[in-house]
Amino acid sequence: MLGDEKILFSGMQATGSLTLGNYLGALKNWVNLADEYTTFYCVVDEHSITVRQDPAELRKRARNLLMLYIAAGIDPEKNCLYYQSHVSGHAELAWILNCFTYMGELQRMTQFKDKSAKHADNINAGLFTYPVLMAADILLYQADVVPVGKDQLQHLELTRDIANRFNAIYGDVFTVPEPYLGKLGARIMSLQDPAKKMSKSDENPNASIYLMDDADTVMRKFKRAVTDSEACVAYRDEQPGLKNLLDIYCACTDKTPEEAVKEFEGKGYGELKTAVGESVVAVLTPLQNEFHRLEKEKDYIDKIIKQNAEKAGYYSSKTLRKVQKKIGFPEKIR
Ligand code: TYM
Repeated sequence: MLGDEKILFSGMQATGSLTLGNYLGALKNWVNLADEYTTFYCVVDEHSITVRQDPAELRKRARNLLMLYIAAGIDPEKNCLYYQSHVSGHAELAWILNCFTYMGELQRMTQFKDKSAKHADNINAGLFTYPVLMAADILLYQADVVPVGKDQLQHLELTRDIANRFNAIYGDVFTVPEPYLGKLGARIMSLQDPAKKMSKSDENPNASIYLMDDADTVMRKFKRAVTDSEACVAYRDEQPGLKNLLDIYCACTDKTPEEAVKEFEGKGYGELKTAVGESVVAVLTPLQNEFHRLEKEKDYIDKIIKQNAEKAGYYSSKTLRKVQKKIGFPEKIR
């Protein structure tokens, strides 16, 4: 690990239930890229507390998320899967980077604007500096590449700006990371309003497919998906509901949009919706089965959590020490 191989870092919040958007926009690419990189896949539980959480629920969701990473096909012996809160370097570097980030930059972040509108009674400082913690996550491991969905690109751009700013003052301390977007599925939209992204926190349960939805639920949600009255299967921006269904279908079957349009030429929307639903069920069923198997493997999962936290702690401490030295913190006397 960490020879000449490039480094990949990514993470997901342990909040709400994962959606098909999280899977197709991020998790699926994590699995595909795992062999090419030295990887760190984090359960970002520290990010989750920017909105109020029930403690027992957060703990359970964090563990379930880690098991979902494995169930999706990420080998925990070869890839470092761990909890953010188990590696203190994330919070320590975030504090330092806070001092290299401007208020104006954070005020421009669309996720901050959206979340503060949604949680108007709890616009806390953590919600505001959230992107700095995300920058710390990434820079702590000297990541070359960060696979995310499109909604995270603004945070990635800020991470690059912070890294370049720091490097300009102190020399080449941080690797400046590149985002990785999958060709398809980088922005999966709500099934009820194709102008909005599919989101864990959508109040309408028919808007999102959850990774743990059973086959009947998946098929029913696709049947109810909003389309249009054109009655013609095409892949174009003017038919956003249909475009979203085709994106999902292609991401699940590894077909191109052209191939998919050809396949459904002259067919009704009902037939298309059934095929999309079936393609999603075919992806989710093995993942769910594997998840339920892992739920019974308590000792094995505990071992993974312990080992990987140690591994992540070891690698992150190298960057942290370097940063502390550069900015002038006194060295520890050993
Ligand atoms: P989060 O937890 O909201 O989402 C996890 C990943 O899923 C992607 N995603 C989507 N992709 C396509 N279509 C959608 N509808 C959709 N919804 C979500 C997200 O882009 C993301 O890749 N701030 C991050 C978590 C984070 C992180 C990091 C990510 C913290 N530190 C460091 C990468 C690197 C977040 O809230 O993602």
